[in-house]
Amino acid sequence: MGKTVTAKAKPTSASELRKAFTDFFAEREHKEVASAGLVPPDPTIMFTVAGMVPFKQYFLGLETPQYKRAVSVQKCLRAGGKHNDLEEIGRTSRHLSFFEMLGNFSFGDYFKEDAIIWAWEFSTKVLGFLREDIWVTVHISDDEAEKLWLEKTDVVPEQIQKLDEPNYWKMADTGPCGPCSELYLDRGEEYGKGGGPAIGGHDRFVEFWNLVFMQFEQKEDGSQVELPNPSIDTGAGLERLLALMAGADSVFDVGDLAILIEEVKSMVASAKNKEASTEISQRILVEHSRAAAFLILDGIVPSNEDRGYVLRRLVRRAIRHAQLLEIYSTHKNAVLPLAKKAIELAKDDHPKLAENADKILSILENEESRFLKTLSAGQELLEKEIAQIASQSSKSKVLSGKAIFTLHDTYGFPYDLTEEIAKDEGFELDRQGFEKEMEAQRERARQDHSSKSKEGKGVGVQVEYLKELTGLPKTEFLGNANYNVEGKVLAVLSDGVVLDKTSFYAEAGGQVGDIGRLSKLNSKNDDNPKKSIDVIDTQYGAPEVVFHKTDDSPAFEVGDEVLAEIDGGRRDSTRKHHTATHIIHWALKQILGDHISPQGSLVEPTRLRFDFSHFQALTQEEIAAIEDLCNEEILSNQ
Ligand code: SER
Repeated sequence: MGKTVTAKAKPTSASELRKAFTDFFAEREHKEVASAGLVPPDPTIMFTVAGMVPFKQYFLGLETPQYKRAVSVQKCLRAGGKHNDLEEIGRTSRHLSFFEMLGNFSFGDYFKEDAIIWAWEFSTKVLGFLREDIWVTVHISDDEAEKLWLEKTDVVPEQIQKLDEPNYWKMADTGPCGPCSELYLDRGEEYGKGGGPAIGGHDRFVEFWNLVFMQFEQKEDGSQVELPNPSIDTGAGLERLLALMAGADSVFDVGDLAILIEEVKSMVASAKNKEASTEISQRILVEHSRAAAFLILDGIVPSNEDRGYVLRRLVRRAIRHAQLLEIYSTHKNAVLPLAKKAIELAKDDHPKLAENADKILSILENEESRFLKTLSAGQELLEKEIAQIASQSSKSKVLSGKAIFTLHDTYGFPYDLTEEIAKDEGFELDRQGFEKEMEAQRERARQDHSSKSKEGKGVGVQVEYLKELTGLPKTEFLGNANYNVEGKVLAVLSDGVVLDKTSFYAEAGGQVGDIGRLSKLNSKNDDNPKKSIDVIDTQYGAPEVVFHKTDDSPAFEVGDEVLAEIDGGRRDSTRKHHTATHIIHWALKQILGDHISPQGSLVEPTRLRFDFSHFQALTQEEIAAIEDLCNEEILSNQ
C-alpha cells in the first residue's frame, strides 16, 4: 500500500485531476490548449510521445505562438521509436503505451524558477503529497536547479539527487532537448530498496513529473545549438498520478483501466489462479485494446508499415494474451469487447471516441478475427520448430531467421510476438537472419515489379521486343484521362505503328492492351485525309515504347499526324476489372491475412483472374465472406 494523503478536496478521478491541473495553470496565465492527435505532422517521430510535441516549432523559434504559456492534457503513445515502453507494459506497475500527459509550457517566458515553484505547490497543495515522500532529481551539471529547489521550496534537502543521462530529455534523435528535473514519490519500504530514485527500486520511487528546461536543439550531426529562448516543458502522466494519489499498487488498479481489468476477469472462463503471468496477460490485453481504439480514432488502420504496424503489433499481442487467458474458448472476441468498454468509459472526456465507435470497432473486429485464423497455424509451426531444435541437443537454442520470416510473412506474426513466445521457451532469435530474409523478399518484390510494369511483360505474357523499335523515345501515355489523343507517327512497321503520344494502354501488369482506331489527320499533301486503320492489340514493342498492332499494313508515314481513338467501352469494362482486382486483393487480405499478395493477374474486358498463395484451401465460408466483402465494396460505389 502507498501512503495516504491528506489534502482537502484533492482530485480523485481522471476528470477531476485534468481539471485541477488545467485550472491551476490557467490561474497562472496559461492558455488552455486542447490535445492534439496521436499522429504528429513531424517526420522525426512516429507518434505524439509527449505533451510538448505539438509545440515543437515554438521551442525551436520557427513559429511564434499567440501565447507564451500553455497548459494541456495531451494524448500520447509510446510504442515505437525512441520512446517505446512496449516491453515494460504489464510487467511494471506504471508503464502504458497510451496515456494522457498533463503539462505546463513556457515559450521563452518563465524558466526554471517558476516551473519548480509551481510543480512543488501543485504536488503538495493540490495533490496532497507529503513533503517527506517527495524526492527530486536534477542533472549533474545543473547547480542552478538544485539551488532553486533548496531555496524556493521546502523539499527535504537530502532528497535531492543528481543524475546524468536520465536527467537529460530529448524529444527524438533531433529536435528540442535539455536538462531536466524529475519528481518522484516514495511509496514506502514495502515496495523495495530505499535510497532515493538514484539507487532505490523503481517500483518504490515512482517518477510522477518531469520538468524539462528546454535550452538546446539536437542537430543531425550530433551537435547541439542553443534555442532562441530558454523554455519550459513539463509532463506528468495522468494515469500514474491517479494511481499514486489513490495509494494503489499500479495504474491498472485505478480509473478506467481498473474497470477494464475487472471486465477481463469476468471474461476468463475458468477461475484462473492469480499467477503473475496471468496478471501480466490481463494488463497487456486491456492496455493494448484501449490504445488500439485511440490509435484508430486518430486515423491509423492496421497495416504492415509504420504506424499501422505498431497498431497491428498492439492488437496481435493483445490477441495472444487473450489466448493465453483462454478467453477464446468461451468468447468469439476479446479485444473487441474491451475496446468497446474502453470507449464507453472514456466517452465523456473523449467524445470523438464515441462518435467514431462503429468505425473503430469494425476495424478491430476485422483485425482480430483475421489474426485469430492464422494464430493457431502459426503457433503450430513455431512449436514444431522449437521442438525440433530442442531435440538436437547440440544445437544452441536459436530460432532461425527463415522460421521467423515464415511466421511473419505467411502467418502475420510480428517479430516481437514470435520473440515473446520463443523467449518463454528459452529461445533466442536470429534477428540478423530474419532481416536478411526480409531484404531478400524486398529485392524479389522490386525485381518482380520492374519486370511486370512499364516494360510490357504482363504476367504470363512474354513480349518479344521488336528490333526495329529500339532507340525510339518512350511513348507518352495520355490515355488515363483521354480516349482520343493526337500523336505523330514515329515508326511504321508492316503490322503496326509507333506514335509519340497515345491514348492506347499497352498490355502490362496483367491488363490487356487496348483496341481501337488510328486515323490520319488532314494533311496538305494528302488527297485522302481520312485514311484510318483498326488497332487490334497494343503491346510494348520496346521498353516503354507503345506498339499499336494493326490488322493490315498501315498507310502512314513517319511524321504523319494521327488521331488515336481507343474502344472506350472495352477500356471501361477492362478498367472495372482492373479496379475489381484491387478490391479482390483487399478482400482476400481482410479475410485470409496480410500475406496475400498477387502472384499474377489477368484483366480483360469480360473477366479477370487473380492468383495468390495461401497456406490452405479456402473454405466455403471464406469464399462467401470474400464475395460479400467485394460486393459490399462495389455497391458502396466510392
Ligand atoms: N517532455 C518531457 C517528458 O515527456 C516532459 O513533458 O518527459
